[in-house]
Amino acid sequence: MPNLLLAAANTRPVRASVSALPISRRLVDRFIAGEDQDAALAVTRGLLADGLTVTLDVLGEGITDRAGATASTTAYRNLLAALADSGLASGAEVSVKLSALGQALPGEGQAIALENAGQIAAAAAAAGTTMTLDMEDHTTVDSTLAVLHELRTQYPWVGAVLQSALRRTEADCRDLATAGSRVRLVKGAYAEPNSVAYPRKTDVDASYRRCLEILMGGEGYPMIATHDLAMISAARELAARYQRDTQSWELQMLHGIRTGERHALAADGVAVRVYLPFGTDWYGYYVRRLAERPANLLFLLRHLRADKSGKNGKNARPASTSN
Ligand code: FDA
Repeated sequence: MPNLLLAAANTRPVRASVSALPISRRLVDRFIAGEDQDAALAVTRGLLADGLTVTLDVLGEGITDRAGATASTTAYRNLLAALADSGLASGAEVSVKLSALGQALPGEGQAIALENAGQIAAAAAAAGTTMTLDMEDHTTVDSTLAVLHELRTQYPWVGAVLQSALRRTEADCRDLATAGSRVRLVKGAYAEPNSVAYPRKTDVDASYRRCLEILMGGEGYPMIATHDLAMISAARELAARYQRDTQSWELQMLHGIRTGERHALAADGVAVRVYLPFGTDWYGYYVRRLAERPANLLFLLRHLRADKSGKNGKNARPASTSN
């Protein structure tokens, strides 16, 4: 079902109608910090005060013109300057989608994305923080890893994301489990063909466990990004087995999900980072959050039905934020 939903969501009519729904706006508010940088900085300040760290995402993806790619780059540079000016950079880094920096432009897209990502990495260095390259669908993985390798020659702390849903990822984990290498392990949020990805969730989870073992047993800095309590327990067990101290790995969660658990984990001495998106281009991010949890989708559908029958829920609340 997630694959079908994600495919349908990318069609123009569905995008237009889902974006226009008032209930979408309310669900989106659960997952993003707000529409502008000031809102994001305010939420960041609160999370840092709670003992968490943050990675900020300027929403936007699939940019197909050079001006758009430049605008995304400028937004990240401004954000990093603001993080430094407001004294938040020691606890907040940025996460960047290369498709927002021009990767999909015909011909020289990868070179343009590399140039723009280099400018953001330089701004992160100046601010005294780091950046991580998000991973998008499987067609972009080789290009994103190529950009990562280039960036790391000058900025070895640039982080990568690997998706356990992809059959190739165990091998990529082995390649990247090297000293100083920051790797964020996720399950994967994109619709992928069976030829490259595991179709069953049980296989994605089994792959996640194998990747966990490789990264936690390796020499890099694993960033274990999941809300799955079984995976979190497995990561903590591996940290103990490989005698990793709290500075040598971290857990990461998306803003708006498992808010109770992340505080409990931080109180228990685990380093926890929150992925905090902001901006107006929220559609793609929102649809992926709907697709990965049936309860979110059911909430949307129930609300639409209530609207049609004239009952509707002005007071309806999005599916619980604690899970
Ligand atoms: P799983 O899907 O099994 O969920 C476990 C439990 O978590 C669920 O039962 C539910 O309780 C809760 N949960 C999960 N998703 C929820 C949601 N949307 N709403 C409410 N509850 C939810 N993907 C990608 O392809 N490229 C990327 O770059 C990134 N980046 C990234 C960064 C960070 C910090 C995180 C945490 C995740 C990503 N992802 C990602 C998304 C990732 O691939 C995956 O889709 C989600 O994390 C959901 O998978 P879980 O590991 O949480 O497990």
